[in-house]
Amino acid sequence: MRKSVYVAMSADLIHPGHTNIIKRAAELGDVTIGLLTDKAIASYKRVPFMAWEQRAEVVESLKGVVRVVPQHTLDYVPNLREYKPDYVVHGDDWQTGVQAKTRQAVIDVLAEWDGELLEVPYTRGISSTKLQGAIREIGTTPDIRRASLRRMLHAKPILRFLDLHNALSGLITEKAGIDTPTGRKEFDGMWASSLTDATSKGKPDTEAVDTTGRVNTLNEVLEVTTKPIIYDGDTGGKPEHFQFTVRTLERLGISAIIIEDKAGLKKNSLFGTDVDQTQDSIEAFSDKIRMGKMAQQTDDFMIIARLESLILGKGVDHAMERAEAFIEAGADGIMIHSREKTPDEVFEFCARYNRLERRKPLVAVPSSYNKVTEEELAANGVNVVIYANQLLRSAYPAMMETALSILEHSRSAECDSRMMPIKQILELIPGTK
Ligand code: SPV
Ligand code: MG
Repeated sequence: MRKSVYVAMSADLIHPGHTNIIKRAAELGDVTIGLLTDKAIASYKRVPFMAWEQRAEVVESLKGVVRVVPQHTLDYVPNLREYKPDYVVHGDDWQTGVQAKTRQAVIDVLAEWDGELLEVPYTRGISSTKLQGAIREIGTTPDIRRASLRRMLHAKPILRFLDLHNALSGLITEKAGIDTPTGRKEFDGMWASSLTDATSKGKPDTEAVDTTGRVNTLNEVLEVTTKPIIYDGDTGGKPEHFQFTVRTLERLGISAIIIEDKAGLKKNSLFGTDVDQTQDSIEAFSDKIRMGKMAQQTDDFMIIARLESLILGKGVDHAMERAEAFIEAGADGIMIHSREKTPDEVFEFCARYNRLERRKPLVAVPSSYNKVTEEELAANGVNVVIYANQLLRSAYPAMMETALSILEHSRSAECDSRMMPIKQILELIPGTK
């Protein structure tokens, strides 16, 4: 009887490293590929470019592959117990680092039926990380980018978004990453903040920058990044105009718009009740959501309703009534905003919101209650955390300090050590040379 061989892989970007392993595995017997699901991959690195079904189609057609099955966790054990293969084949690059524990578990479970782990020398000169960098330079398509938010929401317990106000801030979100003992940590996408976009244009955050101006910023960013974008749509404007905004954003490949339930001249929420702000009626705002949903052309785009009840001191009951009404009107998610120093009222809202039968993804913006951790937010049911303004707030003081130093010393030598070296800025953007 032919032996059975199990190979697990993500197979987002197939390269000779993969085919080499499959070739070796096929020499041993019938190859089953345990294709990691989006969720399994997202537990230790970026959500793959291609969906599971697309990756499965590619892998199925590779020579030597007999069947493809989903592997739902990074841990091989559940699948190995189910398929009891004679061999597991893997590259020899997992003996140390993030995957060392996974490897040991494979060896231990195979021992239960005298199975064997075979390690193939790692293929040098090719790396998924380098290929990912190349993909970033090639770019993405509006369809893939737009759909990526919904895919991520399915794959990860909590998504991390960072403020966006120009192409450079977008590139930071695109590229910033750290390696941790449990894998690579990155931002999942960008928040096209009205506050930081308006501020960087020298305008107040009162919808004074019109949609055309905001879309200019988006176009700049879309050209050089691949991650999903959530657009801060302020009040959404007049319902009839909102329909045009929805279509424009959708066409560009933006994944979601968040509109806030305010009426009249919008002021930034962080002023709270210090400024005059009227909340829109449930009926009028629900109509706006409905009209937006009618204008939408794809299934992927999301319209998220932002509740200003806590900002305006109206309490959790008030917010809950609106959450239910706006979901009923078709909202694809809810954003709960607060300017308290602690997350208490947000968590009180979460507890009640999580019990809703028609619960949709929940977004939180911990600008004032900034001691809360992502783990705590996730444990309370928050699906997306938005760091709404931190990049601009860190850039401005640094630039002001430099300007003042030049004035004070009549030269730039004194601030030079605080700045990015000239060599580094020349190399920052590929293609500058
Ligand atoms: C923004 O970033 O523009 C927001 C969030 O809308 S807040 O500034 O807190 O209102
Ligand atoms: Mg805003």
